[in-house]
Amino acid sequence: MSETIRVMLPEEELDKRIRELGAKISKDYEGKTVYLVCILKGAAVFAMELAKRITTDVVIDFMATSSYGAGTVSSGEVKITKELDMDPAGRDVLIVEDIIDSGNTLNFLQEYFKEKKANSVKLCTMLDKPDRREVDVNVDYTGFSIPDEFVVGYGLDYDQKYRNLPYIGVVELD
Ligand code: IMP
Ligand code: MG
Repeated sequence: MSETIRVMLPEEELDKRIRELGAKISKDYEGKTVYLVCILKGAAVFAMELAKRITTDVVIDFMATSSYGAGTVSSGEVKITKELDMDPAGRDVLIVEDIIDSGNTLNFLQEYFKEKKANSVKLCTMLDKPDRREVDVNVDYTGFSIPDEFVVGYGLDYDQKYRNLPYIGVVELD
């Protein structure tokens, strides 16, 4: 069985949208320090491109969660596999995610930062698949809403492959 990748969002479109999001976030956080939390590994590419477009002060931290095995279906249970380096207490947290699918991960993270006594918690996701939602999450910034297809590239993987693609594409098995 071989795989081909059909381009869904080309690099130029992603770049343009990231600039727009960066401008909006810069305005919303004027005079504040954004505590940008990148959720590894999927959000790594998007989060760093976004950070480059934010003009207020930014502090960057990383954490990793797992809700997926090697397959393409969520197990529902979210675990922290890499903790933050800094204490989020009193900070203005901007969670940066690659994609919202079931919503389980972000639902878990919003609760997590509330418990850690963050000053504020907002969410920014590169992609949203609203059709797949199992739990309600309040998203502050969305790059693109996409149909229910499994996508790769710009940080997103299929069995750890394709994270390096500079565009978002759909895996087609043939
Ligand atoms: P959720 O907890 O179901 O919302 O899943 C979120 C996580 O699942 C994302 O952060 C991704 O790592 C992964 N994921 C969901 N959909 C896709 C996809 O289409 N391609 C690659 N990873 C995905
Ligand atoms: Mg992820």
